[in-house]
Amino acid sequence: MISLKARNGRDPKELAVLDMDAHLRDERLKQKYVSTMFDILAPGYDTFTRVFSFGMDRGWKEQLIREGVARAPQRPRLLDLACGTGDLCAAIARRTSASLALGFDLSERMLEEAARRAALTPEPALRFAVGNMLALALPDASIDMVSIGYGIRNTHEPDRALGEIARVIRPGGLLLNLDFYRPVNALWRELYLGYMSVAGNAAGWLWHREPVTYGYLSPSIRRYLTMPAFEEALGRAGFVVEWRKRFLFGALGLHVARRV
Ligand SMILES: C[S@@+](CC[C@H](N)C(=O)[O-])C[C@H]1O[C@@H](n2cnc3c(N)ncnc32)[C@H](O)[C@@H]1O
Repeated sequence: MISLKARNGRDPKELAVLDMDAHLRDERLKQKYVSTMFDILAPGYDTFTRVFSFGMDRGWKEQLIREGVARAPQRPRLLDLACGTGDLCAAIARRTSASLALGFDLSERMLEEAARRAALTPEPALRFAVGNMLALALPDASIDMVSIGYGIRNTHEPDRALGEIARVIRPGGLLLNLDFYRPVNALWRELYLGYMSVAGNAAGWLWHREPVTYGYLSPSIRRYLTMPAFEEALGRAGFVVEWRKRFLFGALGLHVARRV
């Protein structure tokens, strides 16, 4: 049954007292804001994502996984960044028979949810740990495949995140990315972000009695890249896009890119 109340999360008031604009402008403060927010959201995150995307999240991830798995080497070393509850990481690990599947996230509560989920259907290659995609504690060229679902947008510097990801992927390795983007068309941008703002604040109130818990979604997309700008950033970091798919008129994109 779907519950409209979060279980055992951190107190949403911890987020409500922080000044969102000031925190999103500064690297260190943004990291603190985002990890506090996802600690609060972690217990109900999977249900929320399914409901809020009208079930589309599952279809988007399935398409990305299918395209990535079709290009994956045998028994890859996989790294899932901003792994959240670990759904992407576990699915790719299973379907590629990964020799190693690391899930890194900033939020300890998200990692607790990931461990809880993983215990239900154990996958021997899976390991979860606290890790920041802006500074990965991994050697150069040590990973065959990186996957990220709704992750890079939450960092302060997409170029720096992509540079760090490029460092740890071996030449010829793959990046699978799924995220929301700032729509290029101004009219669509205002309609879409207006909807996301109203729906996000309403969902935040329903789930946590604090609109700001999901109110972050719309401003975070407004501050982020458009999909063409993201593809330019991929090129600067040393990736070539092999496959892409746009949804919601460019407000959501899937990419499979190869490290040159
Ligand atoms: C919207 S959730 C996405 C979770 C999951 N990947 C999915 O597809 O549903 C974003 C996650 O990014 C994590 N995150 C944000 N900034 C991060 C960073 N710099 N390094 C690692 N994880 C980060 C948050 O803690 C959160 O769990």
